[in-house]
Amino acid sequence: MENKKLIFSGIQPTGTFTLGNYIGAVRNWGPLQDEYNCIYCVVDMHAITVKQDPAKLRRNTLDSYALLMACGIDTEKSILFIQSHVKTHAELSWILGCNTQFGELSRMTQFKDKSQKHADDVNSGLFTYPVLMAADILAYNADLVPVGGDQKQHLELARNIAQRFNQRYGDFFTLPEPYIPKLGARVMSLQDPTKKMSKSDENPNAVILILDDKDTIIRKFKRAVTDSEAEVCYRDGKDGINNLMTIYSSVTGKSFADIESEFAGKGYGDFKLAVGETVADHLQPVRTEFDRLVKDKEYLKKCYTEGAEKALRYSQRVISKVYRKVGFVDR
Ligand code: TYM
Repeated sequence: MENKKLIFSGIQPTGTFTLGNYIGAVRNWGPLQDEYNCIYCVVDMHAITVKQDPAKLRRNTLDSYALLMACGIDTEKSILFIQSHVKTHAELSWILGCNTQFGELSRMTQFKDKSQKHADDVNSGLFTYPVLMAADILAYNADLVPVGGDQKQHLELARNIAQRFNQRYGDFFTLPEPYIPKLGARVMSLQDPTKKMSKSDENPNAVILILDDKDTIIRKFKRAVTDSEAEVCYRDGKDGINNLMTIYSSVTGKSFADIESEFAGKGYGDFKLAVGETVADHLQPVRTEFDRLVKDKEYLKKCYTEGAEKALRYSQRVISKVYRKVGFVDR
């Protein structure tokens, strides 16, 4: 690979991503491909930290892979692969786990949230989830990690683990920097705009899925919870409107001031309809490209097989050095 900075990021195989995944992370990944060496991954190993139906997981993983391509990840420019195809992630995860404190993992808010939500299955994978995530990143010595705001704590932990390893065994890992968008780092639920938009939300109206059809998208935006005022403006306490303005702004590139004047004197109904139509039209090419790609199983297989080979070759070099550093005997 050319001597450019290295980007790594991953996404869970939920099949169809949310508008939050898209605005906070995935849609920023494509434009980075020219300036950086990019490595992107569908994290099926992370997915099994909560119960999954195996057949569904397999289908969702393939759909997510195709959807990343539809969102602009070009396998000629980037390495795009499925996590479980590249064994170095699990191998490095073990070593990093031995350099991570129980207390650090206990402080992860995502672990606290998920262990409450899945109280009948607080398995150790859920607890060590951030160690595997650190391994994903450090197996490539990535410089930058483009993610939404909710992954910031995990990234700080990855940096701490890398730093601890470097102190113990001598400088080796690059400390990865988060790359979080200024706008849209936290897209909120349409039904409770104080909560993050999340695929696992029980209320389907809270979440825009990027493969939703136009009518569904418009209907969900029309039902979005706002406030009892009527003025489209960005202000503290107007969480619902602020969220819709953020979404509209990140899709159109218009500033908040532009949006305020565009909708001056108009009601929330007009605004919601405009946001819905704009988002649906913006996502149309993604849906079309996804429908085309997902049918081409042979081509997808070729892409993810080559992606895994490249990722393995790259990360194997890193892992060999790590093994030597920790004192494992050469094979
Ligand atoms: P995941 O699959 O939950 O989400 C994928 C990406 O989408 C972002 N995101 C959001 N951004 C803005 N608003 C929202 N409502 C929203 N919801 C999700 C996430 O921040 C993320 O960037 N642990 C990671 C996957 C992962 C990973 C990695 C990421 C595994 N290994 C290594 C980076 C590097 C996760 O579960 O993301």
